[in-house]
Amino acid sequence: MHIARTLPELRAALATAAHPAFVPSMGNLHAGHLALVRQAKPLGDATVVSIFVNRLQFLPHEDFDSYPRTWEADCVQLEAAGCDVVFAPRESDLYPEPQTFKLQPDPLLADILEGQFRPGFFTGVCTVVMKLFCAVFAGKSAGTAVFGQKDYQQLMVLRRMAQQFALPIDIVAGPTQRADDGLALSSRNGYLSEAERAEAVQLSLALRQLGEAALAHELPKHLPALEQSALKALTARGWQPDYLTVRRRSDLQTPNAGDALVVLGAARLGNTRLIDNLEI
Ligand code: PAF
Repeated sequence: MHIARTLPELRAALATAAHPAFVPSMGNLHAGHLALVRQAKPLGDATVVSIFVNRLQFLPHEDFDSYPRTWEADCVQLEAAGCDVVFAPRESDLYPEPQTFKLQPDPLLADILEGQFRPGFFTGVCTVVMKLFCAVFAGKSAGTAVFGQKDYQQLMVLRRMAQQFALPIDIVAGPTQRADDGLALSSRNGYLSEAERAEAVQLSLALRQLGEAALAHELPKHLPALEQSALKALTARGWQPDYLTVRRRSDLQTPNAGDALVVLGAARLGNTRLIDNLEI
């Protein structure tokens, strides 16, 4: 497994690859990331994983400084999963000067849900992913990038970015990996205390219940009341939910009868903010 710290090192490591398969990450890898790497492997002739904690996508009060950095363990796991190249740029290599040019995603998709509660988040994500794509796919006529479906809105935003810029990159979704009790795997689960960890599955249960209720009622008429009661129930358990909502899959707007649906939620448990979603 090659470790590339700089763009020239990455280009050298990928010199003979015609169609890289790429999994961008912020490190602190868990079984969810490793499933993406295994999924990526047959989709290209070199499997590349980036590890870069991207300052641009964190708000000032968020966990950029404390975000877990577990470089050695990440490399051991990536090697075992069959990764060919790890791209782990220093901040000064990826952002050699302040990034004054940024990619502004469609506000209709990016300023709702996560974007409403984390303003600027998707601008930071799109900007770094475009930079990473330029790094990994420069000079290649085709490529594949795999993103986890746990970050449902992120996946949609990045798909639209690839489509609107006509990038020769297939965007592939990796199914959410869950712990035995149903909690979606996430690096931020590591912040949970033992008691919080036992409680954490309630977010996915709340989404399932909301989804079942939505399927049993006329939409969109009853949706506000159903969402309010889901928010209230999770709040009563000690959570601080940002949103629990049913949207249509195609554009994450309020659904009409007959639309394919997804339930999305974000909520804070203690100091940890968790997100999850469920297609219904
Ligand atoms: O999902 C993530 O880990 C990050 O948002 C990504 C896509 C690697 C960009 O920093």
